[in-house]
Amino acid sequence: MSSLEKHYAAREIEARILAGLRAAGLDPDQRLTPEALAALDHFHTGGLRASRELLEMAQIRPEDRVLDIGAGLAGSARMLAAELGCRVDCIEMSSDYCAGAVLLNRLTGLEDRIQVHQGSALELPFPDDAFDVVWMQNVGMNIADKPGLYAEIYRVLKPGGRYAFQEMAAGERTTSYFPLPWATEPGDSFLVPLEEMGAALGACGFVAELFEDTSDVHLSRTIANATPAASGQLGLGVFVDDLSQKAGNARRSLEEGQVRLVRGIFRVS
Ligand SMILES: C[S@@+](CC[C@H](N)C(=O)[O-])C[C@H]1O[C@@H](n2cnc3c(N)ncnc32)[C@H](O)[C@@H]1O
Repeated sequence: MSSLEKHYAAREIEARILAGLRAAGLDPDQRLTPEALAALDHFHTGGLRASRELLEMAQIRPEDRVLDIGAGLAGSARMLAAELGCRVDCIEMSSDYCAGAVLLNRLTGLEDRIQVHQGSALELPFPDDAFDVVWMQNVGMNIADKPGLYAEIYRVLKPGGRYAFQEMAAGERTTSYFPLPWATEPGDSFLVPLEEMGAALGACGFVAELFEDTSDVHLSRTIANATPAASGQLGLGVFVDDLSQKAGNARRSLEEGQVRLVRGIFRVS
């Protein structure tokens, strides 16, 4: 993509977000609360509720420095900065999501606590031992090189630091329904079984404090965040095309055991 095309992509997501906010009755000229944006910017299974649960389990302190990998529009980074007051760095590969995150940080008045960096999870632009917590939600499914990813996370965490995450793992059968929210086609999806994920993290030096399969709990709840919002309601459909098809395929994949939803807290030993 040329820099001109990137510029237009950034402008397009900004325009979509602003139009979505206005359609939902929010005024972007007034200070917005992170909570008011939650249906738009928690782009992962379980939405804000799942983020709050992970926050509770990770026991993050206000003085902690947090890195949010694959931050998307940085909804979780704003939750952490607003509710705990901690400083958060976001790394996000897509330049248009970075632009959307910067816009929403400004509209919520949190730009002084959150820094957005464009870059790859596999080459984190931070020194060793820089963070107390690495946070990652629904990103690993797009990354084939799990050992490389976990080694980078381990490198930037301080001794005793925690890696808090949720993501999809491979189920007992091959994933077959596409498009999914994280993959248009099979070649975009890199799922591994929970056991393989745990073994790769352990091989890096991580120790599991919590590692669980939450598929059944999730399926028993309403997937409010993934349901296409009604006209005039804020939702992921503001910036995700074909949302209802993708969300429907994800739910069916979970129901049929093709994918599993997992979360964990792993500590640097
Ligand atoms: C489903 S979205 C989740 C966004 C955010 N974590 C959230 O929960 O709202 C996955 C995000 O990961 C980003 N991503 C995927 N692979 C990445 C990589 N190798 N490095 C950095 N970001 C990546 C995508 O651009 C996308 O924004």
